[in-house]
Amino acid sequence: MSLLTKRKEPTRTSGGPRARVEPRRRRKWLDRFGWYELLARGVRSSTRQVSGLFLGTSAAPTTYEGVLVGKEQHSGWPFFLDVFTAYEKKILSSPNVAVIGAIGTGKSSFLKTWAVLRQLFLGRRVVVIDKKNQRRGRAGQVAEGEYAALARALGIEPIRFAVGEATSTKINVLDPALASQHADSGASQMQLLRAILLEALGRPVAPLEGRALAVAREAAVAEASAQARVADIRDVVRHMEDPQEAALRTGGVPGWWTVNHLRQWGAEAGAELGRLVREDLKGLVDGPTSADVSLTAGLTVFDISALPDDGPAVPIVMAIISSWMRAVLDSQVQAVPTVSVVEEGWHLVSGSFAKVTQANTKTSRGKAWSGVFAFHHLSDVPADSAAISAIKEAGVVVMYRQDKLDDAQRVVELFNLPPATVQTLMTLPQGACLIKVGSQKPVLVTHLRSPWEAVLTDTDDAMTSTATVGLHRAA
Ligand SMILES: Nc1ncnc2c1ncn2[C@@H]1O[C@H](COP(=O)(O)OP(=O)(O)OP(=O)(O)O)[C@@H](O)[C@H]1O
Ligand SMILES: [Mg+2]
Repeated sequence: MSLLTKRKEPTRTSGGPRARVEPRRRRKWLDRFGWYELLARGVRSSTRQVSGLFLGTSAAPTTYEGVLVGKEQHSGWPFFLDVFTAYEKKILSSPNVAVIGAIGTGKSSFLKTWAVLRQLFLGRRVVVIDKKNQRRGRAGQVAEGEYAALARALGIEPIRFAVGEATSTKINVLDPALASQHADSGASQMQLLRAILLEALGRPVAPLEGRALAVAREAAVAEASAQARVADIRDVVRHMEDPQEAALRTGGVPGWWTVNHLRQWGAEAGAELGRLVREDLKGLVDGPTSADVSLTAGLTVFDISALPDDGPAVPIVMAIISSWMRAVLDSQVQAVPTVSVVEEGWHLVSGSFAKVTQANTKTSRGKAWSGVFAFHHLSDVPADSAAISAIKEAGVVVMYRQDKLDDAQRVVELFNLPPATVQTLMTLPQGACLIKVGSQKPVLVTHLRSPWEAVLTDTDDAMTSTATVGLHRAA
């Protein structure tokens, strides 16, 4: 490559201004030394090295349809993404989304804006299961989840669950509005009861235990309806621990079964279920559904941040919410695109939430339902788990920074990305992510927030606190 500078003036012959101008003969050998023009010597390089200059990166925008996510980092174009639009355009076949990233990389900010606020403005239904405690309650205040401020900014009160608290929301798993009584429905009462029993026993439900549970449920529902009330899980426990003759007359019971058989098969399961309802789930499922539980609003936030991290309450309540949502989607006349956000994606690995969600996600396309699940890293997700299939099958994968080499490598392997992506994943700054839509190449995106969104998504409150404490114990 040579840069043309100044051409040498041709020499004039003598004789004043009108004299003839004689061009000097250009000598080729002098050219080689840059005699006439500035000579820029070429540099030998490889295409791999030169690609670092990004000479031709003004690529076409990925799409101009959908919800704004942020800015494509290489080209500077705005980056839009909407699973429902992308599905319609056949860019992806699964409406589910997996968000993976280390602590504090920007996952929740992405979810609160792209999956919640920006969807609501399009008239979509959004359901959030909020597990993370944002700040400890100040004196006289109850601690609450990280979506509470966002919900209140939109005039919506989160639905809060807390074991043993009188103010806790209750959901009756036998509520006809929540789960269908028909076994063939994805959100059947039996499916939910089995999922809860699985959690209570800590092992798979044995076939005869399952039959005893089914008979107890039918007997409980029949008895409650004769008393003009809605049965709840306490009725099921009672019928398992103490089955009655009437139970033998429920559908599908073979003639040779006796009350003793039912008692024997359901004894252990009934005792464990009873203990669970009285202790771990106290106040959460033992009675009629609270009046504030409704999925008719655009945004519903289920605040489960007060539930204990260990124990069965979290997966069970998540399974119940998932079933409730499925029942609402089943009964809608015209499908309203619905986004459900679950930040605790690792609950998909096993347990009651995994079971219910697996059944529900199979039919998500038919219900216009997009499940959005967040994970910190993949090292705690077993390769053969339902969670890994959910991540692999997700139509959209949003990858934030990974701090450990193993985790970055696992992401690269799982999504078959070029090996150099490991380095990219480990150096992504806060708020930047790689987004893979369907089988398209991943795109490096900087997630953008409006000033209003930035305030609602800021989770650095505690870390930037300037509160102090005295050196000695307060008197
Ligand atoms: N796009 C962004 N631009 C600028 N700052 C951002 C962006 N996204 C997130 N942040 C900042 O980073 C902090 C952490 O973000 P966020 O809570 O979303 O992380 P996270 O990945 O959900 O963390 P955790 O794993 O702890 O839940 C927030 O306080 C937020 O202000
Ligand atoms: Mg978060």
